[in-house]
Amino acid sequence: MADEPGQPPALTTLSLADQAPSSQAVEQIITPFDVSGGVDESGKLLPVDYDKLVREFGAHRISKELLERFERVTGHRPHRFMRRGIVFSHRELNLILDRYEKGQPFYLYTGRGPSSDSMHVGHTIPFEFTKWLQDVFQCPLVIMLTDDEKFMHSQKIEIDDAKRYAKANAMDIIAVGFDMKKTFIFSDFDFIGGAFYENMCRMAKRITINSVRGTFGFNDSNNVGEFHFCATQSASAFATSFPHIFGTDKKKVASIPCLIPCAIDQDPYFRQCREHAEKMKFKKPALIHSIFLPALQGPGSKMSASVDTSAIFMSDAASRIKNKINKYAFSGGQDTAELQRQHGGNTKADVPFQYLTFFLEDDDELERIRVAYEKGEMLTGEIKQRCIAELQEYVKGFQERRAQVTVEILDEYMSQRPLEWTGNPNPIKVDKEKK
Ligand code: TRP
Repeated sequence: MADEPGQPPALTTLSLADQAPSSQAVEQIITPFDVSGGVDESGKLLPVDYDKLVREFGAHRISKELLERFERVTGHRPHRFMRRGIVFSHRELNLILDRYEKGQPFYLYTGRGPSSDSMHVGHTIPFEFTKWLQDVFQCPLVIMLTDDEKFMHSQKIEIDDAKRYAKANAMDIIAVGFDMKKTFIFSDFDFIGGAFYENMCRMAKRITINSVRGTFGFNDSNNVGEFHFCATQSASAFATSFPHIFGTDKKKVASIPCLIPCAIDQDPYFRQCREHAEKMKFKKPALIHSIFLPALQGPGSKMSASVDTSAIFMSDAASRIKNKINKYAFSGGQDTAELQRQHGGNTKADVPFQYLTFFLEDDDELERIRVAYEKGEMLTGEIKQRCIAELQEYVKGFQERRAQVTVEILDEYMSQRPLEWTGNPNPIKVDKEKK
């Protein structure tokens, strides 16, 4: 594939010192460990430039044609995230559609690094989308909780903390609504061993220190655990790592690929995984990337679990959601109602409008809001109102489902057991030879 040169491009990590002295400009930095938009010459924070990222990473924008094919093959209208460019880029999604069309097996793989007890709405975006994909494809799903990654990466987090966060987060993830019969959730500390560990070592043997430095922006002060962890995250992309789901016929199972829905910052792991997969006689994972939900403070940042006022948490009460949006949500509107009526607001910068593009299902209503707000017929208070209502409803639905998740249910999702799935009910016929 032309999308992948032999060596993944090093990320741009210009520091202030590298810039012209009179300029405050800084390039954006997006790695699994650091997400910040660029800064312009005058020191103003810029929104993340996703086109540039896709180019640098060597992925592909999801085209209109691909969306049309998705709909034809699956019989489902693309999710609003796909329609609106929130899920915006991919690697070889077309091959997964080929397989679905023919009724050939594949699975979904996603994950979360459990770094705190509470998840926020930004965390649930990739999971919401993954649940929808699972419903569309009727396929198995593995969810990796990287408690080991968070332990090794953080000075503060001890192993017991990371394991506790993993369980609490798993209960939140279950509340998104995954079908238990088709879903396996695991903590690295609890699960890794056996076939999974073999694949980890196969991968680790191929990854050079040099490539990790370039791909993740690590240097000689990062610990060896961090360097090694990239092999761990990759091993879940191989079906042979999960014999309890796919069986032990290694040759057959090795030909089952996965599709990984993730936020774009996780791409470096899988770029590396894809580079080595075929030499290891595995299928390359396919990917489908989402953008970040901006922090309340605006584009150029993402919600952070450690900054309470940057995020709407899944545990926030309705009144708290209202206060946070009213008080902290960055507005693209004018300072006074009069000026707003005259000039209208900027929906590209307006956080309430951005959140509506993530959460409001109705395309027509969203378009009416956009036009009215830009023309100044809608005031900042009104758009905030609409955004508050939508988020309150989303979080309330989540909290109701979360209240039903017991420790017994959690144990069941996390137990090593066979899964049950049907795949495409009406695959097209392919002659056996080619299959
Ligand atoms: N490293 C990810 C995080 O810190 C967790 C993760 C593991 C993941 N495997 C994944 C995320 C696959 C997306 C897809 O959040």
